[in-house]
Amino acid sequence: MEKIIIQGDRPLNGTISVSGAKNAALPLIAATLLAPGTYKLHNVPDLRDTRTMLKVMEILGAVWTRQGKTVIIDSTNLTGLEAPYDLVKTMRASVLVLGPLLARSGYARVSLPGGCAIGARPINYHLRGFEQLGVTTVLAEGYVEARVDGKLQGNVVYFDNPSVTGTENILMTAVLAEGTTVIKNAAREPEVSNLIDMLVSMGAVIEGRGDDRLTIHGVKTLNPVEATIIPDRIETGTYLIAVAATGGEVTITDCCPDHLPSLIEKLRSCGVQIEEGKGTITVKREKQAEIRSTDIKTMPYPGFPTDLQAQFMALMIQADGVAVINETIFENRFMHVAELQRMAADVRINGSSALVKGKPRKLLCGTQVMATDLRASASLVIAGLAAHGKTEVSRIYHLERGYENMVEKLSLLGADIKKIQE
Ligand code: EPZ
Repeated sequence: MEKIIIQGDRPLNGTISVSGAKNAALPLIAATLLAPGTYKLHNVPDLRDTRTMLKVMEILGAVWTRQGKTVIIDSTNLTGLEAPYDLVKTMRASVLVLGPLLARSGYARVSLPGGCAIGARPINYHLRGFEQLGVTTVLAEGYVEARVDGKLQGNVVYFDNPSVTGTENILMTAVLAEGTTVIKNAAREPEVSNLIDMLVSMGAVIEGRGDDRLTIHGVKTLNPVEATIIPDRIETGTYLIAVAATGGEVTITDCCPDHLPSLIEKLRSCGVQIEEGKGTITVKREKQAEIRSTDIKTMPYPGFPTDLQAQFMALMIQADGVAVINETIFENRFMHVAELQRMAADVRINGSSALVKGKPRKLLCGTQVMATDLRASASLVIAGLAAHGKTEVSRIYHLERGYENMVEKLSLLGADIKKIQE
């Protein structure tokens, strides 16, 4: 197994580019199941999770090749309609094949994803949405067996919470249903809009892009297309916070500042300089400049992303006061706290809130820490970059699920960081 070794307390300087968004690539890959043919997806990050999704596609009978950042998928001959537990358990987003398979073939059998480190994460909204569109679902032996008797019928689908993959699954089902579907309290994340853009270019009719009310007028057929994955706003945010934590000046290219309204606002209120450009963001903090403690509350987009909560905590542990971090999306997303406490951070959890009492950086010290989930691992890397001494982060397979070449990119910025075999 591999781990990362960091010698901390060095500013980051220079320029890096971000990769395509993991959470857009996954639904756009699944969408290629909707209509037989050859698709070209550009800016697809090469990550553990995108590789898993492509394995699921292979099992269903699709054929794919990668040429640099472009993945070509031929979904003409589907030979299977089942996504197995062995793959779904490693990446719950595999459930995104349910909608397109139902729309194309009227049947799908997909393993239930099971529990996750950050919360129970059931898929009841997805299943109820499918049932609204005329699908019969049966849960047996840990699998969802979903079948359409006759044709999918447009209907109103309401989500208690604006579920991201729930919205994506119902979108990919309703595009080929008879009549009109309205999704109420839909997710507004940029990744959902990226999927809508691809579906519309395939011939779908969807209104309300970016809103919490989406109207889908079903069509008879769709066509294969070329599409491009948007930049990864969570990767962008992770590097912005890393520079805020270490000090330095970095320009991030190939990113989209408009996708990070809440984070940019919060970093500015911490006293960090942020300059937004066309496809670029420059972040700057003098190493000695104080970081002002700032409260955050995670919310659906455009609120503060839950996928940046852990990273922001790694900044607040060295701020000049007390910050309250309120996690409203997932019930168990403070797994990084115990590891940050091992670095002498002062964090107290009280239900869905964490009270972070900042300390001067010289009191935060590197040590051995363990990653527990994707974003928690990014938070530990940031804390290690800022802290004094050596930090060893183990179980980094979590990190590689969602960050392409993180060690190389940080080295480019002057970090003393390397990946070694345990
Ligand atoms: C997506 O997960 C992202 N994953 C997550 O990113 C992200 O944290 C999350 O949205 C929230 O922004 C992908 O896009 C692949 P939800 P998703 O359905 O769609 C509850 C990362 O680090 N809920 O929006 O699974 C759920 O438990 C990952 O990249 C139900 O109760 O999240 C949660 O409390 C982690 N029943 C809330 O809704 C359902 O059927 C929002 O979850 C669906 C969701």
